[in-house]
Amino acid sequence: MTLEQKVGQLIQADISSIKPSDLQQYPLGSILAGGNSGPYGNERASAAKWAELVGEFREVSRNSGAGIPILFGVDAVHGHSNLPGATIFPHNIGLGAANDPVMIRRIGEATAAEISGSGIEWTFAPTLAVPQDLRWGRSYEGYAADPTLVAKYATAMTLGLQGKLESGKVLDAKKVAATAKHFLADGGTADGRDQGDARISEKELIEKHAQGYPAAIDAGALSVMVSFSSWNGAKHHGNKSLVTDVLKGRMGFAGLVVGDWNGHGQVPGCSAGACPDAINAGLDLFMAPDSWKKVYDSTLAAARDGTIAAARIDDAVRRILRVKFKLGLMGDTLTQRGDPALIGTADHLELAREAVAKSLVLLKNNDGVLPIRKGANVLIAGPGADNMAMQAGGWTISWQGTDTKPEDFPNGQTIGRAISDAVRTSGGIATISADGRFEAKPEVAVVVVGERPYAEFEGDAPDLAYRTSPADEELIARLKSQGIRVVVVFLSGRPMFTGKLINQADAFVAAWLPGTQGNGVADVLVAAADGKAARDFAGRLPFVWPANALSPISKPLFPMGYGLTYTKPSHLGPVNEKAGVDLTLSSHISNFVVRGKIPAPWRLDVDGAISTRPVDLSAQEDARKFTWNTDGKMTINGPAVDLLKQSESGAALMIDWRIDQPAKGPVLLTVGEATLTLQDLIGAKSAGSLLNTYIPLSCFAKAGAKMKTVAMPLRIAAPKGFVATIRNVRIEAKGSAGACPAVAK
Ligand code: GLC
Repeated sequence: MTLEQKVGQLIQADISSIKPSDLQQYPLGSILAGGNSGPYGNERASAAKWAELVGEFREVSRNSGAGIPILFGVDAVHGHSNLPGATIFPHNIGLGAANDPVMIRRIGEATAAEISGSGIEWTFAPTLAVPQDLRWGRSYEGYAADPTLVAKYATAMTLGLQGKLESGKVLDAKKVAATAKHFLADGGTADGRDQGDARISEKELIEKHAQGYPAAIDAGALSVMVSFSSWNGAKHHGNKSLVTDVLKGRMGFAGLVVGDWNGHGQVPGCSAGACPDAINAGLDLFMAPDSWKKVYDSTLAAARDGTIAAARIDDAVRRILRVKFKLGLMGDTLTQRGDPALIGTADHLELAREAVAKSLVLLKNNDGVLPIRKGANVLIAGPGADNMAMQAGGWTISWQGTDTKPEDFPNGQTIGRAISDAVRTSGGIATISADGRFEAKPEVAVVVVGERPYAEFEGDAPDLAYRTSPADEELIARLKSQGIRVVVVFLSGRPMFTGKLINQADAFVAAWLPGTQGNGVADVLVAAADGKAARDFAGRLPFVWPANALSPISKPLFPMGYGLTYTKPSHLGPVNEKAGVDLTLSSHISNFVVRGKIPAPWRLDVDGAISTRPVDLSAQEDARKFTWNTDGKMTINGPAVDLLKQSESGAALMIDWRIDQPAKGPVLLTVGEATLTLQDLIGAKSAGSLLNTYIPLSCFAKAGAKMKTVAMPLRIAAPKGFVATIRNVRIEAKGSAGACPAVAK
């Protein structure tokens, strides 16, 4: 192999940024489809289309340069959840509640078969995080807070996905390479900040966060993914002592180490386009989704000038080739994957149904309202009653899982549909109505509420409070006032403070993110003709359940391992309803732009001639670019909010942005009735630099803004030619930052 071919092997590109023919010039070793990438730009492509695309990349790679086929990876983290029709299992937190390693292995086998059915041979799973602070948006990707259970699951899932490795033999065609991720302590960051810093002792690092890795390695895991996060300030992508000395040395990992989505760019002195330090720290494969050309050039230069030793390059190539051999991609007898008959089979769906049933945790069941008796009149209500997106959560069809449609799930049923079918089968009457309308008064209502889908940092929360919407509170109160007993089914990626909801409910079920098989919920909640539910509750809390909204959780409402059953009933008296945080000033009110998204209740209005689109600033689609094609303004509008307290307490409006193209005229910032010129704050800054611009709210108050009722918390007016990329805009309780900008004339 030439040096160019070796360096190419160390680089992975995303399908949305590379086409097969590019491999003739850039001999890359691997291709991925990230959360928002689908074959030929279609996130709803069929298994056959996935297999076709993988085949195209493989064909070009085999017939050019050294003829080494690419390795193709995808996030199949709760089943092959990129694929309409695939079996989508509960997210890891629900599997942790099931506490059933044997079932985990079966889920791994089914998932591997469905990934293989689409022609793919590598999944970026299992996540072995041990979440400590449930404000973390990826808590649901963790199985449990118990490292021992995580280690058991690491073994089971790895063996399920890969099968038992046998020396000299390739994996079965229905098996795929697993990825133990994200190394290390991704779930241990301060305040649960995604991609943040785990400020913990080596003892805690090992005892709490490392237990899954030796288990996965002993089970033969062929890859490990490095975490974006850091340990005591050292970014993992540049931490040689952990990646090389510990993972490869002491833990004896012989597979390949892949980076996370331009994560190498977070290493001090590195950028998304260049980071020899990461390879020298022990990374074998850059995940360089859109930066692969620059990474190729910079890594080749570093290999040529000796910044990266030849031995390191060879070791990385060897590890990558070893995985390719193991997957049957090399040599003459290629392992054939791509049998769509493996996808969404009856036994996989049955397994997912079982997993859903075993994942449910019963936290309250006063007066035996559950199981719903046969022949009953039942209402299924709430925003989650007939809502597959809420049921499946993030990493479903798309990265955030927020734009799915019922037709994306031909093999599933929502909780409402499943309960309705089960009630009717038992001779009862069932009505599904999100807003709780009915004709004949039901004796029991199942109200399905919970979190909206999110993935990664999108799910980072300021506290553990579940903010029941006023409509949902009113719905439950209305039902209760009519003497209708209420069963709350709570869909969430984590335990949350739900004191008032628990008190209002007669029964409360933690259902996590169950995926497509809503019938698994009906199996436990609805009595069949024989008067018994098909299954009793088996789930136990994999994390403590908080008694208030503060995190870390000082005194749980329910301990880890808690869970009622029909054979072990219990009466729950009133629980604390005080969140301990000021919900009215919750982050969503004072967060106007969050990583390029505009959270409810805010909305973005831009003048027609301003174009805007999501872009990657420091992570996947974490910012939004605004281009002023003529003079115009972008505005954040919403309900009038009371910002008087913040204004008087010295809080500031913070804009986290990059000026891509400076303005040739004044840039005006309006809050409420006051407009200030930003020129003196940003004028001097060079284009392209990241800025955190702070403007004390008191400056707007002094300029005439009525801070008690601010209905327009942000407007930026600028002249043609101004271009800015905005990542976050929020109110920060920060000391006033000096003089106020000039008031606009
Ligand atoms: C994401 C995630 C990682 C995933 C990768 C590819 O940023 O951190 O878990 O496997 O990128 O989608």
